[in-house]
Amino acid sequence: MSGIRSSLSSILFKRVGLRSALLTPRKESSTCLSDPREISQDEPQENGIDHKLKSPRRKVCQPVLDHFDAQYTAELGSLWTSVRSVLLNPGCWQYGVMMNRFADVQELRTRLLELGYCSLLPQRHTTPPYVPPSHSPHGGSLECYVQRGPVRLPAPRHEPGYLKRYFLLNAASLLPVLALGVAENERVLDMCSAPGGKAVAILQTTCPGFLHCNEVDRHRCDWLSKTLESYVPADVMKTLRVTNQDGRDFGQTHQAAYDKVLVDAPCSNDRSWLFSPSELRGHQWLKERQKLPALQTQLLRSALAAVRPGGAVVYSTCTLSQAENHQVVEGVLATCPWVESEDLQEELLLANALSEHFVFAPPPPAPLWPPGLLVVPERIGHTWGPMYLCRLRRTR
Ligand SMILES: C[S@@+](CC[C@H](N)C(=O)[O-])C[C@H]1O[C@@H](n2cnc3c(N)ncnc32)[C@H](O)[C@@H]1O
Repeated sequence: MSGIRSSLSSILFKRVGLRSALLTPRKESSTCLSDPREISQDEPQENGIDHKLKSPRRKVCQPVLDHFDAQYTAELGSLWTSVRSVLLNPGCWQYGVMMNRFADVQELRTRLLELGYCSLLPQRHTTPPYVPPSHSPHGGSLECYVQRGPVRLPAPRHEPGYLKRYFLLNAASLLPVLALGVAENERVLDMCSAPGGKAVAILQTTCPGFLHCNEVDRHRCDWLSKTLESYVPADVMKTLRVTNQDGRDFGQTHQAAYDKVLVDAPCSNDRSWLFSPSELRGHQWLKERQKLPALQTQLLRSALAAVRPGGAVVYSTCTLSQAENHQVVEGVLATCPWVESEDLQEELLLANALSEHFVFAPPPPAPLWPPGLLVVPERIGHTWGPMYLCRLRRTR
């Protein structure tokens, strides 16, 4: 079996010079407030080695686990038991392969299918090869391949003169992009954009008239620019702008300036935090956690002021925490009568048959029905998430 995998992979990665596919579980970063979905892009390559699947050895941070046990048992009930066992077992985590429509992915697509990957989303058409926007009346369609097993491709390497062909991610992180539903020529703000996974995903779905990618942290902003340059051709880059500002200011500085705004907010990173490097760091993160809902609320309010009346804001996080998810949104809705939350069930889940791949936390019975959807990593083969998303519409 490993021989077949190895020979298929050697064809697959010939262009990037890899001798075999590295179907390895991924090492996860434990960086505070960072996004586990981003880390794989910058991991060192391990060329030429055929890895067996193995469970990475990592130490669980007990204070964080104790804290999560108390909070998430109260919030998720018996569901926490299964979510907990997925989160504590990085060896079973899955990785999605998002194709870059601006690169030549025909051969890669074929090889992934041969390796047993399937398309996450119904493919309405095969994405045509890239042509400059002036010659292309249509955008693309999001194309992501997934496996039930915890295999992963190596992080794509930089090849001078070529754009990267794929982006590795937690497939649930595509849901906020789908919920945003950017249409051609719309003006879009990605308020918390680094390292740029969702910005790249937005550009797979369509050609926005203008995509403004913002990130407050200088170092992460540089990382964002590098990501965009690695995936986006020069003529499309002309429709992007990268800024290094505090997202909380946009409501003042860019009032009603956008058709769509994505707030992929800084949050507690449940996957990473469980493996924080020391107990001391774990305690620090838990302390910082208390400040997050206030920051998230400010960012969301700012986004709602920056979107035009009739426009939409998607708020998302990669934590299970109600305080950072439903409660932030409910707090904003309670004080902004000009904002409505939208039901994503039919449009997003049913239309794309997403329940096949993702497990959603059941909402409490109405009238307590909280806004938004929460993807939970619940069992092997369904390890995507945590990912919370909610779409809000500015009515006036
Ligand atoms: C979850 S990450 C975003 C991931 C990104 N959307 C992606 O898909 O690659 C949240 C980002 O928000 C940034 N951030 C934190 N506070 C911010 C603020 N006040 N304004 C803008 N960005 C902020 C963090 O530095 C971090 O890069």
